[in-house]
Order: sequence, then structure tokens, then C-alpha cells
Amino acid sequence: MTSARSLRVPGIAYGGDYNPEQWPEEVWAEDMRLMREAGVTMVNVGIFSWALLEPSEGVYDFARMDRILDLLHANGIAADLATPTAAPPAWFFRAYPGSLPVDRDGRTLSYGSRQTFCPSSPAYRRAALCIAGALAERYAEHPAVAMWHVHNEYGCHNAACYCDTSAAAFRIWLRARYTDDLDALNHAWGTTFWSQWYYDWEEILPPRATGAPPNPTHQLDWRRFCSDELLSLCTAERDSLRRAAPDIPATTNLMVLRTFDALDYWRWAPELDIVSNDHYLMSDDPESDIDIALSADLMRSLAGGPWMLMEHSTGAVNWQPVNRAKHPGEMRRNALANVARGADGIFFFQWRAAKAGAEQWHSAMLPHAGTDSRIWHDVVRLGADLDALAEVRGSTVDAQVAIVWDWDARWALELPSQPSGELRFQDLVRDWYTPLWRAGVAVDFVRPDADLDRYRLVLAPSLYLVDATGAANLAGFAERGGTLAVGFHSGAVDENCHVRMGGYPGAFRDVLGVRTDELFPLLPGQTLRLTGQVPADASATLWSERIRLTSAEPVAFFADGPLAGTPAVTRHTPGSGTAWYLATRPDPATLSALMDRIRKDADVQPVLSAAPHGLEVVRRSGTDADYLFLIDHAGAGAEVPADGVELLTGKPVCGTVTVPAGGVAVVREPH
Ligand code: GLA
Repeated sequence: MTSARSLRVPGIAYGGDYNPEQWPEEVWAEDMRLMREAGVTMVNVGIFSWALLEPSEGVYDFARMDRILDLLHANGIAADLATPTAAPPAWFFRAYPGSLPVDRDGRTLSYGSRQTFCPSSPAYRRAALCIAGALAERYAEHPAVAMWHVHNEYGCHNAACYCDTSAAAFRIWLRARYTDDLDALNHAWGTTFWSQWYYDWEEILPPRATGAPPNPTHQLDWRRFCSDELLSLCTAERDSLRRAAPDIPATTNLMVLRTFDALDYWRWAPELDIVSNDHYLMSDDPESDIDIALSADLMRSLAGGPWMLMEHSTGAVNWQPVNRAKHPGEMRRNALANVARGADGIFFFQWRAAKAGAEQWHSAMLPHAGTDSRIWHDVVRLGADLDALAEVRGSTVDAQVAIVWDWDARWALELPSQPSGELRFQDLVRDWYTPLWRAGVAVDFVRPDADLDRYRLVLAPSLYLVDATGAANLAGFAERGGTLAVGFHSGAVDENCHVRMGGYPGAFRDVLGVRTDELFPLLPGQTLRLTGQVPADASATLWSERIRLTSAEPVAFFADGPLAGTPAVTRHTPGSGTAWYLATRPDPATLSALMDRIRKDADVQPVLSAAPHGLEVVRRSGTDADYLFLIDHAGAGAEVPADGVELLTGKPVCGTVTVPAGGVAVVREPH
């Protein structure tokens, strides 16, 4: 929340999506009373209200929204007022059937759900800007409105549309990228391959379903286009809101999830006054606390400081095959873990559990069971916790470690026709993030071309695609004295997905002091043993490659398989720094041991020298004090050295603070 337009809601904002239009108005008074009881300070309203706000084209009915906003204001609750453009009404699609999205296989999808519009549809854009503009004009001066919530989760259900309108928009985007030079596109895409050469821009289509694999660069440019196309809708709406209300901050809720990779948020975040995230637990993730932390650290990095958690859940969601409920205390730990990593607002989907509609089995702050429920009790308690943490707002997390995160690299890695179809960017990043999370080491995420000078250690767990600038930036960091570690199959291709010739890992051969002449991906289930400076039972999966050392020293070797005796992990000292290469995916214990050694090279210390197992430790630094967050995931409780005041209980801390089993402690440490 570093923009000039900041949120004028005090402390750590607290609330959720509020959909009063789904309820008779008699219920609203109870909503207000209970929101006050829970300490709710802001709610997200109007997100899916288009059909009610604009019953027919150009005819607006704001009466209900007037009453909702007045009621919120009368109760001292701020509104994050949404443009309802994620759910166009049925009348819109009947009038503009060409705005329905078409999938890869050429099927036109129907309306009757949400986000079924083509991002390139001129009719959609016009209609969205009209309703956004009308809302902005009507409510710019309304005292309840503290923030604009543009759309909802761009690209969640319609990240790509393959219709003819989208094809035309794609061509316009390509003409801009290749400065109207079709030969430049042909060279960038390598279209001499398989007779794909284009003689006319009109020949270019979206990468619709084909029998054999499509061109990789074509697909990569398509991903870039799809992200930019939605971003242009977002900024157009934002601008119409800003015209009417120049001082009200605008956000749109991003989604950092393992299952969502459609948008390049490095390009999105700078367009937002406040960066916000939606994060949900995957029921099949046994360590979702790590996923929360990774997502939160990435958000703080995108925001360049504090941010908001715009959605998470009090309990189970309704969109996974089986939807796991949260364990006792888990929701509180989840929420406070986000605060620990820079969230200055904690929100849920949604306030009141729905009676009807596709999300009737989704948890909420006020469950179907009402206030006589564990969830309600926990929601009220969390409100009090956040109130007690008000002074934490605005403080940041200082990290000495950066992990390189890049959407181009992610998209390219997961294209078809790779040496292995088993490579998943976020899993590879999480592998390396996990030991740092366990050790309580703060981490930022950075682009490959970021200013790295403030870091001691930079990790690139997976950077298949990197341009020359990014590669030189990372190499320069190591040469100037930093510690760099690079994961397998990195540096392999340039920004056009063209292989760097002369051996792998392409762009990083010199800085790593290695040269690989052949890749040996492992089959699912296949395991190799490792020897050398690794634990006795060290093993690896997923990947191996035949490395020749040019100037690096070996740290570990493959012990079996066709590469037995060749290096698997190497260390090099280019210039005044250190550069590690991990040419395989070590088992978690081995990776953790390696990460400890890599950290030693960089002299990176954790927040606590020896954190008990399962205790998440993060420090937020403020102007007058630091805030030590201690979150017990192991259920064992902990005694931790600290001095100051424990904010959740208000009790002074002299020498040691007790973290209750499964609980949280936050110690204010005066400077
Ligand atoms: C998303 C949406 C919400 C709701 C939740 C359910 O995050 O933004 O409207 O559908 O998922 O988990």
C-alpha cells in the first residue's frame, strides 16, 4: 500500500465479500450488528451485481446500492465498491452473442455462470466501461466508499478466448510487438519449421487445437497477449473510476495459486494503487502453510511493500473434488501468517454463507449454522486479534534472500514438447522455498532483471527462459560477490524460446562453470542415488544431465544410472562470489542440507538462530518497532527468546515468550 492513493481504513482492515442483494432487506440489520460484533471494518460490495444494477442496457437502478452503502456508512463500515463486470447479465449476451468466449476446440460457451465473455469483445469493453463509469459518477463522493474493486479475479474462468475477434486483437498485439515486421515474427517464432512461415498477418490465428504440437513461440506470445488483453480491460476500468474519483485507491484481486498462471502479475501490480491477493488452500496439499507463505511473499514483492489479502476462506471451499474443512485454529494461523508477511488487510469470501447458487456449499464468516458455531467464534476472535495488531500496519519484511520468479519462464517451461512433461514451475520454486520457510529465513521474489544489490543470496530454482539482460544481471550479481544458485534446465532458451547453442544451461554456463552436453530426464517414479557432500541416503528425481566441469568444483555426484560418477551439484567461484548449480531435484532432506550450505556461503541468518520444528517465524520491521510473528503449526507450542510486548494478549514479554500450542504470538520489539 505504497501508492499516493492509500486506504483510509485504520489498522489492519477486516471483512469479506458482502452480497446483501442475495438476501431480504430484513437480514441487513442483523448483518450490520454482527459485522460490528466481529470488528469488520470494510466489506467488498457489488462484485456480481451487474444484472440488478443495470436491468436493461443503459438503464440503471442504484436504489438498492444506495441503501447498502448508506447502511454501511451509518454503521461505520467502509465499502470496497466493485465494478460488477465479472458477471455480465443475460440481456447483454442476448444483445451481443458475439461476446461469448470460444474455447481452443472451437466451442462457444454459454452464459448462465460468470466470466463468460471474450476479453477482446468491443461490446463487452463498452458495456463494462459504461457500468464502471456510471458507478464511479454516482458513488465518487459517497462517504462509505474507501476503495474500488475492479472486476473480480481477471482471467479466472476466461483467461483465453479463441474466437475470430480475439484472433484480430492478437494480430494487432503482434504487429506492435514486432513493429509491423512480419519477417521478424517469422524469425522469432522459427516458422521455417514445419512449413509455418507466414506471408500475411491475416494468416495468423490463436493457437487453436491442432493435431500435432503447435509452435512454442506462437503459444508463448499468445500467453503474453492474453495477459495484456485482460490488463487493458483492467486499466481502462481503473481510469474511468479515477476520472470520477481521483483520490480513491483502486485494486483488483490477483490470484497466486498453484493452479492459476494466466497473468503476468509483474506487469499488473504497478497498475494498481493497492495490490491484493486471493488465496485458497488445496485440500490435497499436506503443507498448505508453505503455500500461503510463498503466495504472501510473492504478493509483498509484487506490491513492493504491504498488500491486502482480499479473499481466503474460513473453512472449506466448494470447487475442489473434496473440500477439506479447516482444523481448529487453522483459519487464525492462516490469516495471521498473511499479516506476518505484509498483509495490511484480511478478507474472506464471503460474509454470509449463501442459501442458493453455485457457492451455497462454500464456507463464510457467518455460516449456515449462524452464530452458534465454531467458525463464527473464530471470526469474532480474529477481528479482535487484528484490532490488537493495528500498529503493525505499514511495516515491512526485510529479506536478504531473493527467489527469481518469472511468468514467461513459467509459461515456457510448461509448454508441450519439453524433454519432460513433468516440470511444474511453482513446484520447483516451492521445493527451494520450503527449507527457507522451515528455517525462518525471509524471502522476497524478484524479476530476473531486478536490482539485486540489497540481497546476499539469489536463487533461480527454475528459469528455463531468460533474456540476455536477466541472465547478465544474475551472473553479475555472483561476480560482484553475491551467492547465486540456479536450478536445472535454466537459461536454456532466450525470450523467443530459442535454444542457446553450445551446451546447457545456456545463459548460465560461464557463471556456473559447467557445460552439459545431454539431458537425461527421469521417468515418473524413477530415483537416482546421490553421493559426495550430501546426506548418506541422498536421492534425486525428475531430472539428470551429463555435466562437464569447466571451472566449477563438484559437490555431489549421481551414484547410479547412466550418469553414475558425473556431477549432480556443483559450486563455482566466479569473480568474488559463488554460483551453485543443482542439476537434479534432490529429495527434500538433501535439498535442505544443500540450502543450509548455500546459505552459509551467503552468510544469511534466519530470524531466530534455532526455531523449534513447525514454528513459522517472520519479522515485520516498522519505524519505531519490529514485530516478531511466531506461528505454531506443529501443535506443540514453543518458548522463544524475546523482549517487548505480546500484542495479542497485551502482556509484557521479558526474556521469553510462550507460543500456545497451535497458536500465534506477536511480539512488539521496540527499536
Ligand atoms: C474466487 C472468487 C469468489 C469466490 C471464491 C470461492 O476467489 O473471487 O467470488 O468464487 O473464489 O472460493
